[in-house]
Amino acid sequence: MIDDFEDGLGVSCGFCHAEEKDSQKLDYASDAKPEKKIARLMMQMTIGINKNYFKLKHPLIGDSTLVINCTTCHNGQPHPGDLETQ
Ligand code: HEC
Ligand code: HEC
Repeated sequence: MIDDFEDGLGVSCGFCHAEEKDSQKLDYASDAKPEKKIARLMMQMTIGINKNYFKLKHPLIGDSTLVINCTTCHNGQPHPGDLETQ
């Protein structure tokens, strides 16, 4: 599932996950970065679109049966709205 985020957005783990202060290792449980919170909302939105508009019964992020996923909109970009970066 997490690998789909990297491919879909063209980012690495540190884009969403904050570093620990001392070790500079990523603290995966931390919600310090806004990108992680946005990603969680994006997951809910993606599930919602598949369920409500494409009538999938049990959509799961990372499932190959999804009609739309992160890549559908992001296409390898973190900001799909920024046309000049594409
Ligand atoms: C686009 C944002 C994004 C990227 C990039 C991303 N993650 Fe995550 N990750 C999340 C979100 C959001 C959650 C929490 C999911 C939830 O709440 O159900 C999460 C949860 C996790 C967790 C579980 C943490 C816990 O609560 O115990 C691990 C481990 C993790 N990610 C590892 C990775 C690794 C390794 C990478 C890079 C290969 C990565 N993530 C890249 C957004 C991201
Ligand atoms: C229906 C289209 C669509 C889908 C599907 C979608 N996104 Fe997004 N996402 C967007 C748009 C548009 C933006 C930019 C919003 C803005 O610029 O305010 C965005 C922004 C984001 C951001 C914030 C980037 C930043 O730097 O602020 C993250 C993180 C993100 N999306 C993660 C995801 C993940 C993870 C998924 C799959 C679970 C996903 N998105 C699925 C359209 C989508």
